[in-house]
Amino acid sequence: MLKKDFTFENEIKIRIMKSFYIKNYGCQMNVADSEIITSILLKKGFILSNHIENAKIILFNSCSIRKKSELTIKNQIDKIKYLKNNGSLIGLIGCFSKSFKESLLNEKKIDFFINPDSYREIENKIYNKNIVKNFYKRKKETYENIIPYKKLDKKITTFLSITRGCNNMCTFCIVPFTRGREVSNNPFLIVEECKRLQNLGYKEITLLGQNVDSYYWIDNNNLSFNFANLLELIAKKLPTVRIRFSTSNPHDMSNEVLKIISKYDNICNHIHLPVQSGSNKILKLMNRKYSREEYLFLIKKIRKLIPNCSISHDIMTGFCNEEDNDHLDTLHLMDEIKYNYGYMFSYSPRPGTYAYNNLIDNVPKNIKKKRLQEIIKLQNEHSLYRMKEFLEKTQKVLIEGTSKKSNNYWYGRNSQNIVVVFPKKINLKIGNIALVNVKKFTSSTLIGEAIK
Ligand code: 5AD
Ligand code: SF4
Repeated sequence: MLKKDFTFENEIKIRIMKSFYIKNYGCQMNVADSEIITSILLKKGFILSNHIENAKIILFNSCSIRKKSELTIKNQIDKIKYLKNNGSLIGLIGCFSKSFKESLLNEKKIDFFINPDSYREIENKIYNKNIVKNFYKRKKETYENIIPYKKLDKKITTFLSITRGCNNMCTFCIVPFTRGREVSNNPFLIVEECKRLQNLGYKEITLLGQNVDSYYWIDNNNLSFNFANLLELIAKKLPTVRIRFSTSNPHDMSNEVLKIISKYDNICNHIHLPVQSGSNKILKLMNRKYSREEYLFLIKKIRKLIPNCSISHDIMTGFCNEEDNDHLDTLHLMDEIKYNYGYMFSYSPRPGTYAYNNLIDNVPKNIKKKRLQEIIKLQNEHSLYRMKEFLEKTQKVLIEGTSKKSNNYWYGRNSQNIVVVFPKKINLKIGNIALVNVKKFTSSTLIGEAIK
């Protein structure tokens, strides 16, 4: 719907007015969302611009999972104030808390915001700004008939959302509030999209969801698919494409899924399994729905069924009421598992969550910092320990490009999601699977030689 004064005789002017630029700050899920928004806008005749300076509509896509992400966005918005003063519109998309979005709107720092389940109304927001409320909001929005826009920038790995939202309600987490209840996409449409991605040249697809293990789809004839069924369907239909998935939830990961991973060569041997804490007291306060013992048992099962599987984690330190002995529980759990790698954070209270409303953020900042440093240091030791296991072993590496550090080296990843670099000696190109013998390593990279 056009505003009355939004009519131009001049085609060029219209093209300029319809140019948009989209910038991502968040996780892979946000990247996938940007592809959906881009697709919606292109269909409506908007024009994608690669330069922020040339765009009349500037979209920032990020999340507010930690306070830091909000600050990053605020800084970015301040940096381009001169563009807003020159008439550009600034819109915020992605998962932000209501209060954050509304305060930016009230301060006139942004022109509009759109919730993750309302991207279809973006054109309206652009023309009418936030005068129009989210009238197009859909309870079960999966963007089923929207084909995500792919940049075709010669990348050979890509992402695909299979679920949206989360039903878990971990007490620290803002995602259930910003992304809503979980909904799963139609498995047949997922396979169709995977095939389209394969035809575009992609060799690896990562299936995305806040909790992929709770994927569940059922049709009118009671034909149902859980995550194991979906994985198997994709693995069978696309035998030459590498399949990854993220994120797994310890509470929901089934034996069936582990068996499917071990059964199909094209499903990568890597599981990202956030633990958050090694202390039962803290896990309970976080409402994580598994105990330390159950988590360790799951790790044992993974190692038994998929012996080559790498395991990574998310750990959050300094949650409410975390004492020294809880922190030690986390360090001991890490020692027992020796993860390949992980993502480590300090607890950041998020308005609207259960923890924010009901628990006290009582671990002092300096203690949070000290504990985080200890966790990072220990993880570094474990990463080195795990990297050593690859020495002199041959890895199947999907070549993704030239190494950032040297033009003479290829860069890729093995099945375990570990970065491997090796000299470009033999006749290989991007998208090939190379057999690489590992000769050296750092805590994050394997360095090897391709075998002829
Ligand atoms: N503070 C710090 N880290 C958080 N995460 C989620 N919410 C918060 C928060 N409030 C971390 C968790 C999660 C990862 C995606 O982000 O470790 O697994
Ligand atoms: Fe947040 Fe927990 Fe859902 Fe992950 S599983 S998105 S941490 S509520």
